[in-house]
Amino acid sequence: MKFWLVVPAAGSSQRFGGDQPKQFLCIDGISVLTHTLNRFLSHPDLLGVQVVLPRGQSAPDDLPSDSRIQSCTGGDTRRDSVLAGCLALTHRGAADTDRVLVHDAARPLLPRADIDALLQALTQSAAYLVAPVADTLRDHQGQTLDRDGIHRVLTPQGAELAQMIKALEQGPQGLTDEAAYLLQAGVETQAVVGDGINQKITWPRDLALAQALMSEVT
Ligand code: CTP
Ligand code: MG
Repeated sequence: MKFWLVVPAAGSSQRFGGDQPKQFLCIDGISVLTHTLNRFLSHPDLLGVQVVLPRGQSAPDDLPSDSRIQSCTGGDTRRDSVLAGCLALTHRGAADTDRVLVHDAARPLLPRADIDALLQALTQSAAYLVAPVADTLRDHQGQTLDRDGIHRVLTPQGAELAQMIKALEQGPQGLTDEAAYLLQAGVETQAVVGDGINQKITWPRDLALAQALMSEVT
């Protein structure tokens, strides 16, 4: 199935810290953003990519020169950034029923098989990647939670473009992923179990972990 891609890269990496957003730091001489884009650029069904950058920041020098990539400016929340990317796709001629995937710039460890599993699910409904939880989970009151009923939520997350835009525009502030917006808008949305290696770079140690794991991901 043909698809468009939005890569939100407009965050300020508060938890990671440092003087540059984490998505512009390098692993083996290549920016995290470019590693992430490279996971998709070799996919034969990719129609185009909208990279969403922080206000006032230009793309890293190593952004692949590929005519399918365009960039735009993000907003104060991830929702605002993803929405800006989706609206830019409509201006590029993407149709309401075209599928759009949203994938965090900070997740360079995405296996190709998981992109394909998600695209397969998108033929039926909106969909997003999840991974099983390994640890026992307990709340602050000491109550142990049923791990079998819980997933870690990953990206990519996808839907028809118009569905995604409507859910983001009409939803409340503060939800942290697209599936939350789709679900609260009443859109049928399935969770697809993917590989837990697809971790987000959040804290400084995650950059070293991503570097170590990069060659494990195909
Ligand atoms: N993001 C974005 N626009 C925002 C906030 C986040 O495009 N206003 C992007 C980030 O650049 C990242 C992805 O959303 O690729 C996932 O967000 P997260 O890991 O939370 O990144 P940050 O928001 O930058 O980090 P933190 O929450 O620690 O500040
Ligand atoms: Mg954040």
